[in-house]
Amino acid sequence: MGIIIKNVNRLLSNNALELCQIRVSNGVISEIAPEVKQLNDEVIIDGKGHIISSGFIDVHVHLREPGGEAKETIETGTKAAAKGGYTTICAMPNTNPVPDDKHILEWIGQRIDQSATVNVLPYASITKGLNGEKLSDMKELKEAGAFAFTDDGVGIQTADQMYQAMQQAAALDMAIVAHCEDNSLIHSGVMHEGLTSKKLKLNGIPSICESTQIARDVLLAEATGCHYHVCHVSTKESVRVIRDAKRAGIRVTAEVTPHHLLLNECDITEVNSNYKMNPPLRSKEDQQALLIGLLDGTIDFIATDHAPHTEEEKARGMNDAPFGIVGLETAFPLLYTHLVKTNVVTLKQLLDWLTIKPAQVFGMKTGELEVGNKADLTILDITEKWDINKNNFLSKGRNTPFDKWEVTGKPLLTIVEGEIVFKEDNNV
Ligand code: DOR
Ligand code: ZN
Repeated sequence: MGIIIKNVNRLLSNNALELCQIRVSNGVISEIAPEVKQLNDEVIIDGKGHIISSGFIDVHVHLREPGGEAKETIETGTKAAAKGGYTTICAMPNTNPVPDDKHILEWIGQRIDQSATVNVLPYASITKGLNGEKLSDMKELKEAGAFAFTDDGVGIQTADQMYQAMQQAAALDMAIVAHCEDNSLIHSGVMHEGLTSKKLKLNGIPSICESTQIARDVLLAEATGCHYHVCHVSTKESVRVIRDAKRAGIRVTAEVTPHHLLLNECDITEVNSNYKMNPPLRSKEDQQALLIGLLDGTIDFIATDHAPHTEEEKARGMNDAPFGIVGLETAFPLLYTHLVKTNVVTLKQLLDWLTIKPAQVFGMKTGELEVGNKADLTILDITEKWDINKNNFLSKGRNTPFDKWEVTGKPLLTIVEGEIVFKEDNNV
C-alpha cells in the first residue's frame, strides 16, 4: 500500500516554497510533482499547505537501553524522536552493558528491530567498558553493525590510545566520534568556569578542558587519515582549532547542540540542574562563535545530545545531579523560533543542518527529498505558536531548561519508510 501526500510545500535551494504532491510506494519516494494521479488504493494525506522535509537525523542520542531503562528506552526514545521530526538517530554506547563486543551490539540491534519506531544506528565504544584501558575490537564491531566508534560521556585521555584508535578506525573506514574532555582539567566542575560559576560559588570546567584535547586530536587525525568527528563543540577556541584543521585539509567534522546555540552561562540565574550538561553552557562569546562556526561551515550540523535522566536524579542539586538534558522534542521548534524567525539563518540552512549535512558527513543514503530515496519524511507547521510543556514529552526525560518557553513551529507528521510513526492530532 502506498501514500499520496497532497498539498505540501517543499523548500527549494533558494528558500522559495513550491507546492507539490508526493507519492510513496513500497517505502520509497516514487514521484514528486505538482500533481500525482492516484493509481491504486493509496492513502491520501492532506498536508494543508505545511512544509515537507526529509526526516531529521540526530547522530547524538542517549537511548539508555540496556541498563538505564528508568531514564529512557529504545521505545520511548524513538517515539520522542518521531515527535521531534527525526527519522534516523544514532544511539550512544554509554549503556550498561556497553556495546564493546559483537554480542551486546547484536542484542541492541534486536531490541531496535523489536521496539524502535524510527531508524536507529547504534554506536560501539572505542574502549572496552568505556574505561579507557583496552581498545574494543573495531573490526568485529563494524561487522556486527556499528555506526561509528565513540566513548561519549568521557574523553580519551592519552594521545597514544587515540592514535591507535584512529589508526584502526581509518583502516576500517569508520569514524571516531569524540567527546573531548581532558580529565586533568575538569577541576571537579559542574558548570563552565566563568561569571556564573563565580557568582553561584560552584566549581567550573575551563574551556581548555575541551579545546586542548581537540587540538591534540586534529593532529592525530592528520597523522592517521581518520575521519574525526567532534561531538557537541562548546568553546570559541574549539571552533578556531577545527576551522584551522579544516583549512589544513584534515578530515575533521563537528556538531553543535541546540542548547549551546541558544543559551550561555548568563542564562543560569539560579542553581538549577536542568542547566547542567556536559560540555556546559559557556560564555556569550563562545555562543556567538558557535553560531559563526555553523554559518561558515566549520561546524557541519546540529545534534541534540538528548540525555534523559530521572527527576529523582536531577533533583540531587547542581553538584550531585548527572550531566545532561533532553532535546529531541524541542530542537526544531526552538531553532526555528530563535534562529529562523529572527532572521539569523534561513529555513533552508536549518533544515540542511538537520538532514542533508549529517547524512553527507556520515555517508548515509538519506537526508534529501528526492525520488528514489527512502520515504523518511516530516511535515512541519511553521506558524503555530505553542508553549513547551515537559509533561507532554514522549521521552521519559523531563530534564529541560526550555520548559514553558513559547515557540513557533512543530513537526505534525513523521513518516519512516512510508509508515506514519507520529501524527500530531487533528492537524494533518
Ligand atoms: O550532558 C551529557 N550527558 N553529556 C555527556 O557527554 C553524556 C550525557 C549523558 O549520557 O547523560
Ligand atoms: Zn558527550
